[in-house]
Amino acid sequence: MATLNVELGKRSYPIVVGNGLLRDEAFLDPYLAGEEAVVVTNESVAPLYLDRVAASLKDHRLICQVLPDGEQFKNFETLQSIFDTLLENRCSRSATLIALGGGVIGDVVGFAAACYQRGVAFIQLPTTLLAQVDSAVGGKTAVNHPCGKNMIGAFHQPTCVVSDTETLRTLDQRQLSTGIAEVIKYGLIRDAGFFAWLEENIERLLRFEDDALEFVILESCRHKAQVVANDEKEAGERALLNLGHTFGHAIEAATGYCNWLHGEAVAVGMMMAATMSQKMGWLDPEEPERIRELLVRANLPVKVPDGMSAPDFLKHMALDKKVSHGRIRLVLLKRIGAAILVSDYPDGMLDEVLAEYTG
Ligand code: NAD
Ligand code: GLY
Repeated sequence: MATLNVELGKRSYPIVVGNGLLRDEAFLDPYLAGEEAVVVTNESVAPLYLDRVAASLKDHRLICQVLPDGEQFKNFETLQSIFDTLLENRCSRSATLIALGGGVIGDVVGFAAACYQRGVAFIQLPTTLLAQVDSAVGGKTAVNHPCGKNMIGAFHQPTCVVSDTETLRTLDQRQLSTGIAEVIKYGLIRDAGFFAWLEENIERLLRFEDDALEFVILESCRHKAQVVANDEKEAGERALLNLGHTFGHAIEAATGYCNWLHGEAVAVGMMMAATMSQKMGWLDPEEPERIRELLVRANLPVKVPDGMSAPDFLKHMALDKKVSHGRIRLVLLKRIGAAILVSDYPDGMLDEVLAEYTG
């Protein structure tokens, strides 16, 4: 077991990573302040892990809510249903919400915790690789709106993140790969050595090797914790964590948040960002190729969805939170291991990239 801290003054919190953590009935004891615990999970994760979490809460007033599974349920209706549960059970301000599941559960439960009675405590128990390396850490919470992904949300930090790597064993290969996309992202934006490690070891991750998974979770969380500590509310550096996301969110929105997984859309988006970075003269021609090769080895897509056009991209990208003064800001790569947020790219360059990928 290893612990890292997200350093945010009074709101600092630990990220605990280890194999079998949920099996320890005392694992939540250090993090629960009040008597009321509300575990929110979904219909796929509940049969796998809810009993373990409930066992650790037997001395609490425990309320469980099981939501339908899917990105399409990361919406207002689901949020309302969590508020209904909290109010119908007369939960007080000292209740702790516990998000057990992937990034969808973490985002929507975190947002419910941010809003309920103007903010209650919440704990992240991420059970996907994507959630363990990214979404459970950093306090971004949200639901989707039909006009755009994660458009309605709040910054609300959890009181702890407990990542049990044993839970990853029940993920299917596609869900593992979508998490690997976010892992590759950290290498691309901050750490060329980590990117090279991934090139050497990607097959070990795809075989679910415990030590390789634990290593990438800790490395990813170390990067994310540093960025969040420097720039919690995304005034600057944190935007770099969105490499590939502006293109990727457009893919997710255009495909109705159901056919493409988040990490898959981000993988294509990172490729598009790499192509644009090469056009900017920052990446050498072989570098986008290196990135493509790693993504393909990780079973991730590198081409846009069939039928998606450049205007489709632009329509959704124009709604992105990174649009500033009418200009779509993009995270690009200065080199593998260093990213930059850019809005002053030459006119027509974005159109060129979109044409290349959609043509
Ligand atoms: P997800 O939450 O939909 O989980 C993927 C699938 O795996 C679901 O069907 C889920 O039920 C299932 N599952 C979860 N844990 C499992 C387990 N241990 N075994 C078997 N099945 C399991 O998707 P995700 O990839 O975890 O997260 C994607 C979401 O995270 C997106 O909504 C994205 O916007 C969000 N996100 C948020 C942030 C942030 O900073 N808040 C960062 C990145 C992504
Ligand atoms: N996933 C991007 C962020 O947390 O800022």
